[in-house]
Amino acid sequence: MSYLLALDQGTTSSRAMVFDADGRVQGVAQQAFAQHFPQPGWVEHDPQEILATQFDCARVALTDAGITAAALAGIGITNQRETTLLWERASGRALAPAIVWQDRRTAADCDRLRAAGHAELIRARTGLELDAYFSATKLAWLLDSVPGARTRAEAGELAFGTVDSWLVWHLSGGALHVTDPGNAARTMLFNIHSGDWDEDLLTLFGIPRALLPRIVDSSGVCGETCPDLFGAAVPIAGIAGDQQAATFGQACFAPGMAKNTYGTGCFLLMNTGAEVVRSDNRLLTTVGWRIAGQTSYALEGSIFMGGAIVQWLRDGLGLIRCAHDIEALAASVPDSGGVVLVPAFTGLGAPYWDAYARGTLLGLTRGSSRAHIARAALEAIALQTVDLVAAMDRDGAGPLTELRVDGGAAANNLLMQMQADLLGVPVVRPQMLETTALGAAYLAGLGVGVWSGPDEVAAHWAVERRFDPMMQADQRAATLALWHRGVERARGWADA
Ligand code: G3P
Repeated sequence: MSYLLALDQGTTSSRAMVFDADGRVQGVAQQAFAQHFPQPGWVEHDPQEILATQFDCARVALTDAGITAAALAGIGITNQRETTLLWERASGRALAPAIVWQDRRTAADCDRLRAAGHAELIRARTGLELDAYFSATKLAWLLDSVPGARTRAEAGELAFGTVDSWLVWHLSGGALHVTDPGNAARTMLFNIHSGDWDEDLLTLFGIPRALLPRIVDSSGVCGETCPDLFGAAVPIAGIAGDQQAATFGQACFAPGMAKNTYGTGCFLLMNTGAEVVRSDNRLLTTVGWRIAGQTSYALEGSIFMGGAIVQWLRDGLGLIRCAHDIEALAASVPDSGGVVLVPAFTGLGAPYWDAYARGTLLGLTRGSSRAHIARAALEAIALQTVDLVAAMDRDGAGPLTELRVDGGAAANNLLMQMQADLLGVPVVRPQMLETTALGAAYLAGLGVGVWSGPDEVAAHWAVERRFDPMMQADQRAATLALWHRGVERARGWADA
């Protein structure tokens, strides 16, 4: 009875993993699902498909592990963050497609709120930059666009949630409408200081309080699954957004410890402990997790294009046949030959927050080859991360003594060496790269007592490979200077 099931509901796929009490993977399943782009800048998911793929994966992972749900001590949930859902309480039916975190349909609403002078209040209460990335303007859009939604919301007939709330609602057969403070902190409606929904922000965005989930600890039993779903009632014992879960899975428990996940985007989180570090350099102050009522905070740098740049080289340009070909191609030249790629395909996230920046390829000469572009693409991933760490330094967080890495592109040795070189800080890759699911399992395992405390789970963490910086300081400075010239060219492009 000491297995844990992690449900990892990501942006492009649903995954489930079964872990044993030593934190080892015993079963795994993954299913991709459809991305819908109904208009330029819009990104939607089918809420029903999220449920179907996620619950299917759970069943397949249990079979893969050779166990039944009765052997589970608990379930931990981790999820793509900010993605916004609105559903009917009576039926559990979603009223509209989920609006995905990448969706920019409310960028103009954010511009209006900024022009009206609300950005500072939002930053002070939520720790976030006023941006369409977060849930608040997405939810307001749904209330204004779905016929009758606002009246029904005010009458208490509807529920809002990020993907964690949507999953838990359906896991529990509609018994639970909850979220954890880490997910709540991404809605732009949550006061990170008081740990509750913020009345002034609810008024500002026009959100009826009756829509909102109850906030529960990130670790601890908040209810159980409907027995007919997996064949037994299982305690729901952990909830965390995917980047928070990865930080937990990387055992970044002490202030100053940081991880970077190289997924679709890149998300760098530094644990700041009980201290709310306010960023003066346009990073996000966010909640990591809340355990036994104690909140751990983090500074976050969010980059919208990470591994997705490699996908674009493959699918958009046809420069490589499969994603891992990029490493050999980029390694075939000693440097990018002066080519700079600024991957602002959907604008720039931290620390620039420029929704109107666009992708830019600079410095091409007759000698430039696909290898130089491939190398510039990898450098762009690493250089965006350098900008985040520099902003953290300026905020007085750190100094960073090592960067723990995970996510698909962390398997790329050349990229990891570039990262260490360009940061001037060692990059450390753990043996277990599935840190997001592992973090959710840890939170659930701590919640049901499979593990006694963070020290016990931290003992499972082990290094697979360490990349030490080898680049000379003057070369690093020159590369950074060229990159920043490129970023300036990319900025504001779509605004012109
Ligand atoms: O903030 C968005 C982030 O949670 C998405 O992560 O891994 O699903 O792309 P991922």
